[in-house]
Amino acid sequence: TTGPLIAPSILSADFARLGEEVRAVDEAGADWIHLDVMDGHFVPNITFGPELVRAIRPCSAKCFDTHLMIAPADPYLEAFAKAGADRIIVHAEATTHLDRTLQAIAALGRRAGVSLNPATPESAVAYVLDRIDLVLVMTVNPGFGGQAFLPGQLEKIRRLRAMIGDRAIRIEVDGGITPETAPLAVEAGASVLVAGSAVFARPPYDRAIAALRG
Ligand code: DX5
Ligand code: ZN
Repeated sequence: TTGPLIAPSILSADFARLGEEVRAVDEAGADWIHLDVMDGHFVPNITFGPELVRAIRPCSAKCFDTHLMIAPADPYLEAFAKAGADRIIVHAEATTHLDRTLQAIAALGRRAGVSLNPATPESAVAYVLDRIDLVLVMTVNPGFGGQAFLPGQLEKIRRLRAMIGDRAIRIEVDGGITPETAPLAVEAGASVLVAGSAVFARPPYDRAIAALRG
């Protein structure tokens, strides 16, 4: 299929039925499963850790796109890799030695991505482009689902697109993605859309995912 990849965020799923929810979005056409890990320190909310990733790993064979909103991240990389994370995304703001952290993810045999908060410029990834296959542009301040899309981030996506050039690096957007905002992000250069409430609060999931794909 053409169009952007869709990565439903299980942050907005029914946690009491999480395994079923992962299976359901997988069968509904999700390309990746997006896992939002929060520590109550880097972001003002707490979600889950590697044991939950391990528990839901059998529920989908698709890419577990693991977004670590934790500081420090380095002590936990191995646990998430062993639990079944396919890609580990760290925040540029959460790690002092970003290049070293990305090398550690590669040494664990996992794909590496870097996430940028809304106030962080695209230049934060300028010297690590050879170590990543994805940049995650936060279009909300991370911590909660259901927040409003920040349109000022579209300029950052455009600038990243130009910086990336012909490298095999995807731009993913996360936060406030709806059928209305998705085309704006895609037009600016994003090729992966994370969506929490726009999938899990708008069943049936196959229709919700199709609506985001455009
Ligand atoms: C924000 C998380 C997002 C969030 C998106 O802190 O990283 O993945 O779940 O939720 P929606 O799509 O509802 O904005
Ligand atoms: Zn996320």
